[in-house]
Amino acid sequence: MADTIQTVDKTLKRPEPAPRDKLIDFHLAHDEAIPSVEDVDMKTFDVLDPELWRRDAFWPFFEWMRDNDPLHYTPDSPAGPYWSVTRYDDIMKVDIDHKRFSSSWEYGGITLGEPFEDFELPMFIAMDEPRHSEQRKTVQPAVAPNMLKEFEPLIRSRTQGLLDSLPVGEPFDWVDTVSIELTTMMLATLFDFPFEDRRKLTRWSDVATNPYNPDICPGGLDQWKQELMECLTTFMGIYQERQAQPLKNDLISLLAHGEKTKNMTPMELLGNVILLIVGGNDTTRNSMTASIYALNKWPDEYAKLKADPSLIPNMVSEVIRWQTPLAYMRRTALEDVEMHGKTIKKGEQIAMWYVSGNKDERFWKEDPNRLIIDRDQARNHLSFGFGIHRCVGNRLGELQLRILWEELMERFDHIEVLDEPSRTPHSFVKGYTWMPVICHPKK
Ligand code: HEM
Repeated sequence: MADTIQTVDKTLKRPEPAPRDKLIDFHLAHDEAIPSVEDVDMKTFDVLDPELWRRDAFWPFFEWMRDNDPLHYTPDSPAGPYWSVTRYDDIMKVDIDHKRFSSSWEYGGITLGEPFEDFELPMFIAMDEPRHSEQRKTVQPAVAPNMLKEFEPLIRSRTQGLLDSLPVGEPFDWVDTVSIELTTMMLATLFDFPFEDRRKLTRWSDVATNPYNPDICPGGLDQWKQELMECLTTFMGIYQERQAQPLKNDLISLLAHGEKTKNMTPMELLGNVILLIVGGNDTTRNSMTASIYALNKWPDEYAKLKADPSLIPNMVSEVIRWQTPLAYMRRTALEDVEMHGKTIKKGEQIAMWYVSGNKDERFWKEDPNRLIIDRDQARNHLSFGFGIHRCVGNRLGELQLRILWEELMERFDHIEVLDEPSRTPHSFVKGYTWMPVICHPKK
C-alpha cells in the first residue's frame, strides 16, 4: 500500500471528523493518544468510546477480555452499565438462548443504552416471540431463493455498468462510488423505491444509526428526529399506496398486505423500514469496502484468488468474518443467569461482541486476525448472528459481494488502495466512510 496519497487529487482529501465534544460524554478526544491496555483500569474502561472505533484501536481491549475476563462488566458508560461476552462459544450460547435473553425494544432493544422515551422505534429485530416471527415471515419472501435468482441478472448488469463507468487509472473514493452506490441500488429494488431518489435511502440509513455523530447529524437529536420523520412521511405514503394495489414481492408491498403488518402504527412502520434500510445497506456496503482493503493488505491472498477464482464464495464469507460489519448485538436478561462464576441479573444489558468472537483464538485455529480466503471454517463466522434473529438477508448480502468480485476480476488487474481508509466512529456499525483507490486495468 502507498505511504502517502500525493497522487490523489484535491477532491479526494480525507474528510475531517467534526468536533464531537459537546454531543456526548465519552472520554477520548480526536487527537488524544489511545492508552495501552496495560495502562488502563479495565474495571472502568469503556470500549464503546467512538474514538476507539474511528481509529481501529479497540482490538487489544477485546483480546484482554477474552483472555482474562470473558464475562466482563462495565459499570459506568454513557450507555449505562453493561456486560460484555467476548468468546465465540459464549456468544453462540447467548444468541441461541432467546428465552432467557431478550431482544425486545420494550427492554431496550438490540443496541446498548436506553431507547429515547419519546421516540420509540419498534422493529422486528427488536421483538421477542411470537411477534418477531410473525413479522419476519412477512418480509422473508422478498429475499427468498426464488427472488435471489430473479435478482442475480439485475445485480450483475448494474455491477457491470458501474464498474465500466469507473475512472480507470485515476484515484477515486471507493466507498461512495462503488460500495454505497451498489448497495443503494439494491435497496431501491427491494423496496421498489423511486430509483432517482435512491440516495435518500443512503441518507436515512446513515442518519438512523448516528444520532450522536456530528459528522452525520451536526444538529444533534433534533436533526436526527426531523430527518427520520421525513423518512416516515415518505414511506407512509408508499405503504398506503401499496395497500391499494395488488400484492407484489417488494418489502413495502409485503408489509402493506401482511396479515400481521397491514395495520402497523406509524412508528412501527418507521422502525421496520429503518431495520430493512440499515440491514440491507450498511452491512453489505462495509463488506464490499473491506474486501478491497483486506486483499490489498494481504497481496498473497489476492494472488491465491487470481490463481483460482472459484475461491470467491469462500473469500466472501471470510471477508464478512474478518470485517464483522455489526460489531455486537445487545440482549437483556429476562432472569438471573450464571456464567463464568458471575451472575448477570434480570434486567441487565449484555453485548454479544461478534467482532471479538470472530477473532477468538479458541475457535479459529489459524491466525484469526488475518484474512485467509481459503479458510476451512469461514462460513462459521458470527457476523450474521445465530438463533431466531439470524440475518434474514445473509444470502442476498453474499450474492452482491460474489457478483462484485466476479465482475471485478473480469475487468481489473487489481484495485490499489492508496491510503488507510477513514472509519465509522461507531461501536455498532463497524465500517468505512472513505477509501481512495486506483483501478488498474488488465494488461
Ligand atoms: C439481522 C448482519 C445483510 C436484513 C441481522 C443480524 C446481524 C446481521 C448480525 C442480527 C442477528 C442476531 O441478532 O442474531 C448482517 C450482515 C450483512 C447483512 C453482516 C451483510 C454482510 C443484510 C441484508 C438485508 C438484511 C442484505 C436485507 C434484507 C436483516 C434483517 C434482520 C437482520 C431484516 C433482522 C432479522 C430478525 O430479527 O429476525 N443481520 N446483515 N441484512 N438482517 Fe442482516
